[in-house]
Amino acid sequence: MNDMIRPDMGEAARAILARNDRGGYTIPTDRLYPFQWNWDSAFVAIGFSTFDPDRAYRELERLAEGQWDDGMIPHIVFHAPSDTYFPGPDVWGTRHRIPTSGITQPPVFGMALRQVHEAAIAAGRSDAMERSRVLFRHALRSHRWWLQARDPDATGLVAILHPWESGSDNSPAWDEALSRVPTSTTTAIRRKDTGHVDAAMRPKDIDYQRFIHLVDTYRESGWDPARQWAAAPFKIAEVQMTAILARATRDLVALAEALELPEEGIELSAMEARLTRGLAARWRSDLRRFVSRDLISGEDVEAPTQAGFVPLIAVTLDPAQREAAGTELARWCDAMVAGVPSTAPFAPTFEPRRYWRGPVWAVINWLIADGLRHNGLGDQARMVERGTIGLMERAGFCEYFDPTTGEGLGGDTFSWTAAAYLVLSRRT
Ligand code: GLC
Repeated sequence: MNDMIRPDMGEAARAILARNDRGGYTIPTDRLYPFQWNWDSAFVAIGFSTFDPDRAYRELERLAEGQWDDGMIPHIVFHAPSDTYFPGPDVWGTRHRIPTSGITQPPVFGMALRQVHEAAIAAGRSDAMERSRVLFRHALRSHRWWLQARDPDATGLVAILHPWESGSDNSPAWDEALSRVPTSTTTAIRRKDTGHVDAAMRPKDIDYQRFIHLVDTYRESGWDPARQWAAAPFKIAEVQMTAILARATRDLVALAEALELPEEGIELSAMEARLTRGLAARWRSDLRRFVSRDLISGEDVEAPTQAGFVPLIAVTLDPAQREAAGTELARWCDAMVAGVPSTAPFAPTFEPRRYWRGPVWAVINWLIADGLRHNGLGDQARMVERGTIGLMERAGFCEYFDPTTGEGLGGDTFSWTAAAYLVLSRRT
């Protein structure tokens, strides 16, 4: 065990995962998020892989139960009912055997699967190859869905049709595009989140009307990918999503080799090439980061958010880009108690306590640190990791942290924050 791990903290992190276990799957936190969330579970599986590969597999297997016949892995799987969350299964009106939402979330699944597989092999588990093969099929179907449903014109970038798909639900990156979405809804809005968390840290009511307008639109399109694509009033070719997909695709290429599936390996390599080409073209040298494109207006999304740095996990920058990205990231973190703020502190949209408009998220830092290291910026990666661990040691396993004070916000029993601790504390 590495010296960085405080035994009591590691134990506390594992205790949170145990407490949020609902039978082979982990809820993000009690009450506020009482179901299985897609990318949360993938990060949690990586956390489990550090001490219990069997449980790590279970997490992914339970998530895969929610996969649709067309390959989409939904953003929420409603394994068991709960009335503390809106919008629940009745609002989504989807048709899967287990109730699910109708939109997706970043495909960290493939990244997790590789790590779980490697941990299971290292632990000498005799069921590793078989379980990995089954989950690999789920991952491959999901990646095929991504490219067909969300990049039908083969641009190399995948699009989100709802801000919640990004995982960065309330980011200023969506402000302009979301302001064009009508506020009319056919569903009655009954928010539950503001009963659990201070409204000042959550999205505003008008944003919720637009979020639900989008859900109504897609439900009325019968959840058919082509009809949704045509009807979508919100459509952004997104760099954070594409980067995660590209990186997960690369991890699946490695897995295909380990699992001796050469044809799938070739298919996945072609996908990866398409995605990294698409991403590379989104670098903006004047802004020193990557930018998404709004497919409705045709404009770049220039809002300075953490998404601009996430492509480092997938793209290998040239020396000039590397230097520029490193300098820009340092500017964002300058004068913060700990980076990386989810919105640049020098932007007018910066709100250090409001959900995705400034706070630091442990899992985002994990991705950014991986990207920095992938691009030879190891010192900066270590700084991000140490800062993240410091935040957790001072404030607990909170949903997010105020970068200007280090205060923990949104509750302190978050599964993916605990998972991030288990992974990041073993590094450096
Ligand atoms: C919020 C976050 C999203 C996360 C979910 C559960 O909606 O924006 O990324 O998956 O909470 O933690």
